[in-house]
Amino acid sequence: MIASLLSGSRLMKGVLENMDHEDKKAFEANARVFSGGLNKQQIIDYYNNWEDYEMHLQPGRYNGPLYAAEAADRSFLSSKDTIQIIDVAAGTGLVAEELVKKGFKQIHALDPSENMLQKARMKNIYQKFFCEFLDEEPSPNISNGTYSCVVCSGGFGSGHIPSGALLELIRITKPGGMIIIVMREEYLDIEEYRDSLEPLMEKYQKDGLWVCVERSIVHKYFCDKTGVISRFQVKHNSK
Ligand SMILES: C[S@@+](CC[C@H](N)C(=O)[O-])C[C@H]1O[C@@H](n2cnc3c(N)ncnc32)[C@H](O)[C@@H]1O
Repeated sequence: MIASLLSGSRLMKGVLENMDHEDKKAFEANARVFSGGLNKQQIIDYYNNWEDYEMHLQPGRYNGPLYAAEAADRSFLSSKDTIQIIDVAAGTGLVAEELVKKGFKQIHALDPSENMLQKARMKNIYQKFFCEFLDEEPSPNISNGTYSCVVCSGGFGSGHIPSGALLELIRITKPGGMIIIVMREEYLDIEEYRDSLEPLMEKYQKDGLWVCVERSIVHKYFCDKTGVISRFQVKHNSK
C-alpha cells in the first residue's frame, strides 16, 4: 500500500531525479510516513521502527530543528536558561539539541512514539516527557498556560498533527508566550490542511487568541524542499 501511495504522490513527482543516493533514500523514508493513508497506530509503528532516522534527517539535509531553534532564539533575548519550552513532536530530540546550543535549558518533550522518545531520553537534554499525541482533545497531563514557548518542527503533515490541535497549542501556552511551527511549505496545501490550517491560524488571530509575528519561507528545509516558519505570540489561551 505504501509503495503505491508513494509512486502516485503529487509530492514525489520529479523530485528524486537529481538527488544523490543518500538523499534519495532519506527522502523516500520520510515520504513513506508523510504520504497519507496511515492511521495513528501505523504512524507510531513507523517511527518506532525507523532505525536510521537521525542519519536520514541529519543536519544539512533536514534543517527544521535549526530553523526552529533560531526562531526561538529571536523570540527570547534574555533569561533563556529559565524559559519553559515544550518541544511538540519531539522525536529523537534534534530540536532540543539545537535549542541547548542557543542557551535554552528547560525543555520538555511530547511525542507519541516511545522509541523516538527513548533515543531523546538518552541525550539528557529534556527534563520531562509526555508520550502522547497532540490532537484536538486537551491533554489531561498538561495544565493551561504551562509554557512560555512551544516549538514544533516536522510535526505537521499528512496523518500527523491535525489542524484542530492548534487550539491545544494555544491552551498550553502562557499569555505572552510564543508558538513556533516549522514545516514543509508544500504540506500547507495537502487535503488535510488546505482549507483548515492557515484559515484557522487567521481565525485565531481575528478571535484575539494570538498574533502572527513571523511567517517566513526558508530554503533547504528538507533536501531541496522549502519550509515555512510561523511564529505566534499568544494573547489569550482560552476563548
Ligand atoms: C519528522 S518527525 C520530527 C521530529 C523532530 N521534531 C525533528 O524535527 O527531528 C515527526 C514526529 O512527529 C510525531 N508525531 C506524529 N503525529 C503526532 C501528533 N499528532 N502529535 C505529536 N507528535 C506527533 C512522530 O512520532 C515523530 O516523532
